[in-house]
Amino acid sequence: MTQRVALVTGAMGGIGTAVCQELAKAGHKVVAAYHPQFDNKDEWLKEQQAAGFKDFVCVAGDVSDLASCQAMVAEAEAKAGPVDILVNNAGITRDRMFAKMEKDQWDAVINTNLSSLFNMTKQVSAKMAERGWGRIINISSVNGVKGQAGQANYSAAKAGVIGFTKALAQELAAKGVTVNAIAPGYIATKMVMAIKPEVLEGIVNSVPMKRLGKPEEMGAACVYIASENAGFMTGATLNINGGLYYQ
Ligand code: CAA
Ligand code: NAP
Repeated sequence: MTQRVALVTGAMGGIGTAVCQELAKAGHKVVAAYHPQFDNKDEWLKEQQAAGFKDFVCVAGDVSDLASCQAMVAEAEAKAGPVDILVNNAGITRDRMFAKMEKDQWDAVINTNLSSLFNMTKQVSAKMAERGWGRIINISSVNGVKGQAGQANYSAAKAGVIGFTKALAQELAAKGVTVNAIAPGYIATKMVMAIKPEVLEGIVNSVPMKRLGKPEEMGAACVYIASENAGFMTGATLNINGGLYYQ
Protein backbone atom coordinates (compact mmCIF):
# COMPACT_ATOMS: atom_id res chain seq x y z
CA MET A 1 0.00 0.00 0.00
CA THR A 2 1.06 3.62 -0.50
CA GLN A 3 2.26 5.16 2.75
CA ARG A 4 0.38 8.40 3.41
CA VAL A 5 1.15 11.25 5.80
CA ALA A 6 -1.67 11.72 8.31
CA LEU A 7 -1.92 14.80 10.56
CA VAL A 8 -4.19 14.38 13.59
CA THR A 9 -5.16 17.40 15.73
CA GLY A 10 -5.88 16.90 19.42
CA ALA A 11 -3.57 13.92 18.96
CA MET A 12 -2.67 13.52 22.62
CA GLY A 13 -6.28 13.37 23.85
CA GLY A 14 -8.38 10.23 24.26
CA ILE A 15 -9.75 9.80 20.74
CA GLY A 16 -6.73 11.45 19.10
CA THR A 17 -4.29 8.97 20.63
CA ALA A 18 -6.31 6.02 19.34
CA VAL A 19 -6.64 7.61 15.89
CA CYS A 20 -2.84 8.06 15.74
CA GLN A 21 -2.29 4.47 16.80
CA GLU A 22 -4.79 2.93 14.38
CA LEU A 23 -3.51 5.02 11.44
CA ALA A 24 0.07 3.99 12.28
CA LYS A 25 -0.97 0.32 12.49
CA ALA A 26 -2.49 0.73 9.02
CA GLY A 27 0.94 1.82 7.75
CA HIS A 28 0.57 5.60 7.63
CA LYS A 29 3.17 8.11 8.81
CA VAL A 30 1.52 10.01 11.64
CA VAL A 31 2.00 13.63 12.66
CA ALA A 32 0.61 14.16 16.16
CA ALA A 33 -0.55 17.78 16.51
CA TYR A 34 -0.93 18.98 20.08
CA HIS A 35 -1.91 22.12 21.94
CA PRO A 36 1.16 24.29 22.72
CA GLN A 37 0.05 24.50 26.36
CA PHE A 38 -0.12 20.71 26.77
CA ASP A 39 2.48 19.90 29.43
CA ASN A 40 2.78 16.13 29.07
CA LYS A 41 3.97 15.83 25.48
CA ASP A 42 7.25 14.09 26.33
CA GLU A 43 5.48 11.65 28.65
CA TRP A 44 2.85 10.91 25.96
CA LEU A 45 5.53 10.29 23.37
CA LYS A 46 7.43 7.95 25.72
CA GLU A 47 4.22 5.99 26.37
CA GLN A 48 3.62 5.67 22.63
CA GLN A 49 7.18 4.52 22.03
CA ALA A 50 6.86 1.95 24.82
CA ALA A 51 3.67 0.71 23.17
CA GLY A 52 5.56 0.21 19.89
CA PHE A 53 4.64 3.47 18.12
CA LYS A 54 8.16 4.75 17.53
CA ASP A 55 7.74 7.03 14.52
CA PHE A 56 5.23 9.68 15.58
CA VAL A 57 6.26 13.19 14.55
CA CYS A 58 5.00 15.88 16.96
CA VAL A 59 4.04 19.46 16.10
CA ALA A 60 2.42 22.09 18.34
CA GLY A 61 -0.29 24.55 17.38
CA ASP A 62 -3.53 26.13 18.55
CA VAL A 63 -6.30 25.04 16.16
CA SER A 64 -8.40 28.08 17.08
CA ASP A 65 -5.71 30.39 15.69
CA LEU A 66 -5.12 30.68 11.93
CA ALA A 67 -1.50 31.86 12.12
CA SER A 68 -0.65 29.09 14.56
CA CYS A 69 -2.13 26.50 12.16
CA GLN A 70 -0.16 27.93 9.25
CA ALA A 71 3.09 27.60 11.18
CA MET A 72 2.18 24.15 12.51
CA VAL A 73 1.35 22.66 9.10
CA ALA A 74 4.52 24.19 7.60
CA GLU A 75 6.50 22.46 10.35
CA ALA A 76 4.64 19.18 9.75
CA GLU A 77 5.40 19.32 6.01
CA ALA A 78 9.07 20.04 6.69
CA LYS A 79 9.33 17.10 9.09
CA ALA A 80 7.09 14.52 7.39
CA GLY A 81 6.20 15.70 3.89
CA PRO A 82 2.91 16.87 2.37
CA VAL A 83 -0.19 16.05 4.40
CA ASP A 84 -2.41 13.49 2.62
CA ILE A 85 -4.84 12.79 5.47
CA LEU A 86 -6.09 15.48 7.87
CA VAL A 87 -8.07 14.46 10.93
CA ASN A 88 -9.72 17.54 12.49
CA ASN A 89 -10.18 16.05 15.95
CA ALA A 90 -9.23 18.72 18.54
CA GLY A 91 -12.20 19.91 20.54
CA ILE A 92 -13.47 21.20 23.87
CA THR A 93 -16.69 21.48 25.85
CA ARG A 94 -17.94 24.39 27.96
CA ASP A 95 -21.28 22.89 29.02
CA ARG A 96 -23.89 25.17 30.59
CA MET A 97 -27.62 25.67 30.19
CA PHE A 98 -28.10 28.44 27.62
CA ALA A 99 -29.73 30.76 30.17
CA LYS A 100 -26.43 30.82 32.07
CA MET A 101 -24.02 30.51 29.15
CA GLU A 102 -21.47 33.34 28.86
CA LYS A 103 -20.24 34.74 25.55
CA ASP A 104 -16.70 33.50 26.20
CA GLN A 105 -18.06 29.93 26.58
CA TRP A 106 -19.84 30.27 23.25
CA ASP A 107 -16.78 31.76 21.52
CA ALA A 108 -14.30 29.23 22.90
CA VAL A 109 -16.34 26.27 21.65
CA ILE A 110 -17.13 27.76 18.23
CA ASN A 111 -13.51 28.81 17.68
CA THR A 112 -11.97 25.53 18.79
CA ASN A 113 -14.53 23.08 17.39
CA LEU A 114 -15.68 24.81 14.20
CA SER A 115 -13.40 27.68 13.11
CA SER A 116 -10.52 25.23 13.58
CA LEU A 117 -11.80 23.42 10.48
CA PHE A 118 -11.25 26.58 8.43
CA ASN A 119 -7.86 27.20 10.04
CA MET A 120 -6.52 23.67 9.47
CA THR A 121 -8.23 22.62 6.24
CA LYS A 122 -7.10 25.85 4.50
CA GLN A 123 -3.50 24.73 4.96
CA VAL A 124 -3.89 21.44 3.10
CA SER A 125 -6.97 21.18 0.88
CA ALA A 126 -5.70 23.01 -2.25
CA LYS A 127 -2.43 21.08 -2.15
CA MET A 128 -4.31 17.78 -1.83
CA ALA A 129 -6.40 18.77 -4.85
CA GLU A 130 -3.26 19.62 -6.85
CA ARG A 131 -1.79 16.21 -6.03
CA GLY A 132 -5.13 14.54 -6.85
CA TRP A 133 -5.48 12.62 -3.58
CA GLY A 134 -6.58 13.53 -0.08
CA ARG A 135 -8.73 12.58 2.87
CA ILE A 136 -10.23 15.14 5.25
CA ILE A 137 -11.89 13.60 8.29
CA ASN A 138 -13.84 15.86 10.66
CA ILE A 139 -14.86 14.74 14.13
CA SER A 140 -18.42 15.90 14.82
CA SER A 141 -20.64 14.42 17.56
CA VAL A 142 -23.97 12.71 18.14
CA ASN A 143 -24.85 15.95 19.94
CA GLY A 144 -24.35 17.90 16.71
CA VAL A 145 -26.84 15.54 15.08
CA LYS A 146 -29.52 15.41 17.79
CA GLY A 147 -28.78 18.51 19.94
CA GLN A 148 -28.06 18.26 23.67
CA ALA A 149 -29.42 20.38 26.52
CA GLY A 150 -26.52 22.14 28.20
CA GLN A 151 -24.55 22.23 24.94
CA ALA A 152 -26.05 24.92 22.68
CA ASN A 153 -22.49 26.04 21.85
CA TYR A 154 -21.13 22.52 21.25
CA SER A 155 -24.19 21.24 19.37
CA ALA A 156 -24.05 24.30 17.09
CA ALA A 157 -20.35 23.80 16.39
CA LYS A 158 -20.67 20.06 15.77
CA ALA A 159 -23.69 20.54 13.49
CA GLY A 160 -21.58 23.14 11.67
CA VAL A 161 -18.88 20.52 11.22
CA ILE A 162 -21.37 18.37 9.30
CA GLY A 163 -22.45 21.29 7.08
CA PHE A 164 -18.81 22.17 6.35
CA THR A 165 -18.13 18.53 5.49
CA LYS A 166 -21.01 18.29 3.02
CA ALA A 167 -20.14 21.59 1.29
CA LEU A 168 -16.41 20.98 0.95
CA ALA A 169 -17.05 17.41 -0.19
CA GLN A 170 -18.86 18.80 -3.24
CA GLU A 171 -16.08 21.29 -4.00
CA LEU A 172 -13.37 18.61 -3.89
CA ALA A 173 -15.24 15.57 -5.23
CA ALA A 174 -13.77 15.77 -8.72
CA LYS A 175 -10.23 16.31 -7.40
CA GLY A 176 -9.62 12.97 -5.68
CA VAL A 177 -10.11 14.45 -2.21
CA THR A 178 -12.86 13.11 0.03
CA VAL A 179 -14.31 14.99 3.00
CA ASN A 180 -16.23 13.00 5.60
CA ALA A 181 -17.31 13.33 9.21
CA ILE A 182 -17.56 10.94 12.11
CA ALA A 183 -20.25 11.65 14.70
CA PRO A 184 -19.22 9.65 17.76
CA GLY A 185 -21.62 8.94 20.59
CA TYR A 186 -20.32 9.09 24.17
CA ILE A 187 -16.75 7.74 24.19
CA ALA A 188 -14.69 6.92 27.29
CA THR A 189 -12.26 9.86 27.39
CA LYS A 190 -11.55 12.68 29.84
CA MET A 191 -14.12 14.85 28.04
CA VAL A 192 -16.91 12.48 29.05
CA MET A 193 -15.43 11.69 32.46
CA ALA A 194 -15.82 15.41 33.28
CA ILE A 195 -19.63 14.98 33.25
CA LYS A 196 -21.13 14.76 36.76
CA PRO A 197 -21.39 11.02 37.66
CA GLU A 198 -25.16 11.13 38.20
CA VAL A 199 -25.69 12.82 34.82
CA LEU A 200 -23.31 10.37 33.10
CA GLU A 201 -25.15 7.40 34.58
CA GLY A 202 -28.37 8.63 32.99
CA ILE A 203 -26.60 9.12 29.65
CA VAL A 204 -25.13 5.58 29.63
CA ASN A 205 -28.56 4.16 30.50
CA SER A 206 -30.02 5.98 27.48
CA VAL A 207 -27.54 4.32 25.11
CA PRO A 208 -29.17 1.18 23.65
CA MET A 209 -25.84 -0.70 23.99
CA LYS A 210 -25.58 0.47 27.65
CA ARG A 211 -21.92 1.33 27.37
CA LEU A 212 -19.53 4.09 26.35
CA GLY A 213 -17.70 3.78 23.04
CA LYS A 214 -14.00 2.98 22.90
CA PRO A 215 -11.52 5.46 21.35
CA GLU A 216 -10.12 2.70 19.11
CA GLU A 217 -13.59 2.28 17.60
CA MET A 218 -13.22 5.86 16.29
CA GLY A 219 -9.63 5.14 15.17
CA ALA A 220 -10.83 2.18 13.12
CA ALA A 221 -13.40 4.39 11.38
CA CYS A 222 -10.64 6.87 10.46
CA VAL A 223 -8.58 4.02 8.99
CA TYR A 224 -11.53 3.01 6.84
CA ILE A 225 -12.24 6.57 5.63
CA ALA A 226 -8.53 7.04 4.86
CA SER A 227 -8.34 3.83 2.84
CA GLU A 228 -8.26 3.56 -0.96
CA ASN A 229 -11.49 1.56 -0.92
CA ALA A 230 -13.37 4.41 0.74
CA GLY A 231 -12.63 6.61 -2.29
CA PHE A 232 -16.29 6.72 -3.42
CA MET A 233 -17.55 7.97 -0.03
CA THR A 234 -17.63 11.75 0.42
CA GLY A 235 -19.85 14.18 2.31
CA ALA A 236 -20.90 11.34 4.60
CA THR A 237 -21.30 11.33 8.36
CA LEU A 238 -20.58 8.02 10.09
CA ASN A 239 -22.78 7.77 13.19
CA ILE A 240 -20.97 5.54 15.67
CA ASN A 241 -22.93 5.79 18.88
CA GLY A 242 -24.14 2.47 20.27
CA GLY A 243 -27.61 3.15 18.88
CA LEU A 244 -28.08 6.56 20.58
CA TYR A 245 -29.86 8.89 18.17
CA TYR A 246 -32.73 10.90 19.65
CA GLN A 247 -32.95 9.99 23.34
N1 CAA B 1 -33.29 18.79 29.29
C1 CAA B 1 -33.97 19.86 29.72
N2 CAA B 1 -33.68 20.46 30.90
C2 CAA B 1 -32.69 19.95 31.62
C3 CAA B 1 -31.95 18.84 31.20
C4 CAA B 1 -32.30 18.24 29.98
N3 CAA B 1 -31.63 17.18 29.50
N4 CAA B 1 -31.01 18.56 32.14
C5 CAA B 1 -31.19 19.47 33.11
N5 CAA B 1 -32.19 20.30 32.81
C6 CAA B 1 -32.70 21.42 33.60
C7 CAA B 1 -32.82 21.00 35.07
O1 CAA B 1 -34.05 20.38 35.30
C8 CAA B 1 -32.70 22.33 35.77
O2 CAA B 1 -33.93 23.01 35.69
P1 CAA B 1 -34.41 23.97 36.90
O3 CAA B 1 -33.36 25.03 37.04
O4 CAA B 1 -35.72 24.48 36.43
O5 CAA B 1 -34.49 23.08 38.11
C9 CAA B 1 -31.71 23.11 34.90
O6 CAA B 1 -31.75 22.48 33.60
C10 CAA B 1 -30.30 23.05 35.44
O7 CAA B 1 -29.90 21.68 35.47
P2 CAA B 1 -28.65 21.17 36.30
O8 CAA B 1 -28.97 21.15 37.76
O9 CAA B 1 -28.14 19.89 35.71
O10 CAA B 1 -27.63 22.35 36.06
P3 CAA B 1 -26.13 22.37 36.32
O11 CAA B 1 -25.73 23.78 36.14
O12 CAA B 1 -25.75 21.65 37.55
O13 CAA B 1 -25.53 21.48 35.11
C11 CAA B 1 -24.95 20.93 32.90
C12 CAA B 1 -25.76 21.87 33.78
C13 CAA B 1 -23.45 21.13 33.18
C14 CAA B 1 -25.21 21.33 31.44
C15 CAA B 1 -25.33 19.48 33.19
O14 CAA B 1 -26.72 19.34 33.05
C16 CAA B 1 -24.68 18.49 32.27
O15 CAA B 1 -23.49 18.16 32.40
N6 CAA B 1 -25.43 17.95 31.31
C17 CAA B 1 -24.91 16.97 30.34
C18 CAA B 1 -24.44 17.68 29.09
C19 CAA B 1 -23.78 16.69 28.19
O16 CAA B 1 -24.34 15.69 27.77
N7 CAA B 1 -22.49 16.96 27.84
C20 CAA B 1 -21.75 16.05 27.04
C21 CAA B 1 -20.27 16.27 27.34
S1 CAA B 1 -19.24 15.05 26.54
C22 CAA B 1 -19.34 15.49 24.95
O17 CAA B 1 -19.78 16.54 24.59
C23 CAA B 1 -18.82 14.50 23.96
C24 CAA B 1 -19.81 14.26 22.92
O18 CAA B 1 -19.71 14.82 21.84
C25 CAA B 1 -20.86 13.23 23.13
P1 NAP C 1 -9.98 14.99 24.90
O1 NAP C 1 -9.37 13.76 25.43
O2 NAP C 1 -10.25 16.13 25.80
O3 NAP C 1 -9.08 15.48 23.67
C1 NAP C 1 -9.25 16.72 23.04
C2 NAP C 1 -7.91 17.16 22.54
O4 NAP C 1 -8.05 18.41 21.82
C3 NAP C 1 -6.90 17.40 23.65
O5 NAP C 1 -5.68 16.79 23.31
C4 NAP C 1 -6.79 18.90 23.69
O6 NAP C 1 -5.54 19.35 24.13
C5 NAP C 1 -6.98 19.25 22.23
N1 NAP C 1 -7.30 20.66 22.07
C6 NAP C 1 -8.27 21.36 22.72
N2 NAP C 1 -8.23 22.65 22.32
C7 NAP C 1 -7.23 22.75 21.41
C8 NAP C 1 -6.69 23.81 20.67
N3 NAP C 1 -7.19 25.07 20.74
N4 NAP C 1 -5.64 23.58 19.84
C9 NAP C 1 -5.12 22.34 19.74
N5 NAP C 1 -5.58 21.29 20.43
C10 NAP C 1 -6.61 21.49 21.26
O7 NAP C 1 -11.36 14.69 24.21
P2 NAP C 1 -11.80 13.54 23.19
O8 NAP C 1 -12.98 12.89 23.77
O9 NAP C 1 -10.64 12.74 22.76
O10 NAP C 1 -12.33 14.46 21.99
C11 NAP C 1 -11.75 14.45 20.69
C12 NAP C 1 -12.78 14.99 19.71
O11 NAP C 1 -13.88 14.09 19.66
C13 NAP C 1 -13.34 16.35 20.08
O12 NAP C 1 -13.57 17.11 18.91
C14 NAP C 1 -14.68 16.00 20.71
O13 NAP C 1 -15.60 17.06 20.62
C15 NAP C 1 -15.07 14.82 19.84
N6 NAP C 1 -16.07 13.95 20.44
C16 NAP C 1 -15.83 13.33 21.62
C17 NAP C 1 -16.78 12.48 22.14
C18 NAP C 1 -16.61 11.79 23.44
O14 NAP C 1 -17.61 11.24 23.92
N7 NAP C 1 -15.45 11.74 24.04
C19 NAP C 1 -17.97 12.27 21.45
C20 NAP C 1 -18.18 12.92 20.24
C21 NAP C 1 -17.20 13.75 19.73
P3 NAP C 1 -5.38 19.83 25.67
O15 NAP C 1 -5.87 18.70 26.52
O16 NAP C 1 -3.94 20.12 25.80
O17 NAP C 1 -6.25 21.05 25.78
